Amino acid sequence: MSSHADSSDAHHGEASEPERRTFLGQLSKVVMLGGLATSYGTCAYVGGRFLYPAKPARRAWVLVGEVKSFAQGGAKPFRTPSGSQLTIARQGAGESATDFIALSSICPHLGCRVNWEAQNARFFCPCHNGAFDASGKAIAGPPAEAGQSLARYPLEVRDGLLFIEVELDGLRRASGRGGEAS
Ligand code: FES
Repeated sequence: MSSHADSSDAHHGEASEPERRTFLGQLSKVVMLGGLATSYGTCAYVGGRFLYPAKPARRAWVLVGEVKSFAQGGAKPFRTPSGSQLTIARQGAGESATDFIALSSICPHLGCRVNWEAQNARFFCPCHNGAFDASGKAIAGPPAEAGQSLARYPLEVRDGLLFIEVELDGLRRASGRGGEAS
């Protein structure tokens, strides 16, 4: 009786060993795949944070000044709260937003500063002779070859005052002492 039980146990032990190996093999595969999925997921998450902004850029309307403070055909430099450098020009004869234009004053080619040339009705970049028409469209030099125009900002006139819509991200960094102290 006991020898039957022993042989039955032994038989059981011999039969379960391959099953156990198979089970452990499958378990290790599942663990490995789970680890890979976790690490790829982490990479995707970390990469995604660099490829896409964590939240949409905050924008706001900011006062530029009185419409009448701009001479007709004239242009003024303007720095947004987050530090972007722009040129705001009065190109039309009227006093509405469409008579003004606000463009980045940083060349999209390699980042030099562009200047408004009223006599040529163009923005000119002295670094590589890049040129942009009055609307900011690239018309000469490397920016024209690459199709890189100047970034344009929305404008609005309210009660004789000119406002511009700008991004606010980076405001704390750009605001100097006040931003650093808080
Ligand atoms: S940086 Fe303006 S044309 Fe090259």
